[in-house]
Amino acid sequence: MIRVPDSTPTPGAPAGLTTGKAPFIERAQADGQLYIHQPYELYSEANHATWRALLGRMTDRWARYANPRFLQGLDILQLDWQRIPRLEDINRFMAPRTGFRAKPVSGYVPAYRFFACLKNREFPTTITIRDGATLDYLPEPDIFHDVAGHVPMHTDPAFADALVRFGQCAERAAELAREISDPAERTRRLTSMIKGMARFFWFTVEFGLMRGVKAGEIKVYGSGLLSSYGELAHSVESPEVQRYPIQLEWVINQAFEIDHYQPLLFIIDSFEHLFDLVGELEEWMIAGKLNNLAPGEPVVSDDDLRSFLEESAREVATVS
Ligand SMILES: [Fe+2]
Repeated sequence: MIRVPDSTPTPGAPAGLTTGKAPFIERAQADGQLYIHQPYELYSEANHATWRALLGRMTDRWARYANPRFLQGLDILQLDWQRIPRLEDINRFMAPRTGFRAKPVSGYVPAYRFFACLKNREFPTTITIRDGATLDYLPEPDIFHDVAGHVPMHTDPAFADALVRFGQCAERAAELAREISDPAERTRRLTSMIKGMARFFWFTVEFGLMRGVKAGEIKVYGSGLLSSYGELAHSVESPEVQRYPIQLEWVINQAFEIDHYQPLLFIIDSFEHLFDLVGELEEWMIAGKLNNLAPGEPVVSDDDLRSFLEESAREVATVS
């Protein structure tokens, strides 16, 4: 039985870095600071207890269902199972492997900035942790999802290269959009391209499955699954889940919803396969095959569109 930590701060104790209840994060957001540091001393004992509870119950499930590269990544990072890790320690272990860094952020990162970080081998990382009373479900990312779900994968060179290529693909989308003179048409096509990239990212990096070494075996590499106690087993074992070999044309046209277990998942062969698929995604984008994707989720926000048009233009202006 896992004890549910109480995250109510005791008088005199740090206010904590609990999702939705962290004054440090509220101040950073109010000041418009997206990239921040990890104020480690602010974590409360309840925050550390939540981390311990979350990791403690995943061990057996990871051993059973996770991709071997993820398990190697956990060893490489030497994650502290008792206390929330310091991102600088994680980065020290990761640097010699792939050069990826966990970069602390105060909240949502607009789409283009997110992909630009990947291109630079930086992973925007949430530093707050969910309330101990809601171990199972959290709609937004927290440090458990980002550090225990994503970061171990970043120690694998082939996977890391696929993420970088994804960042380059986003840069190409911004270039293509800037070439369109009619503003309405530019917005329409860019919305469709971002939707395609978001769907691809969702069904691979967040919810991807991979063929195992034994016939018929399936292993999980998607971080949304690896950070979910219930859905990890469900994704591999449940007859309610449809699992198909990945097809690019299907994935980019497939809507998804984030508030329930995924009924449809896609299987890749290897991370080299994933890398090739991202390259193919970029080729399809250049050929105009992402300009008219099937409607539906995810919604592309104005912030996302603006980030593609304005920030990418700023980057070009700075370079030239
Ligand atoms: Fe994620």
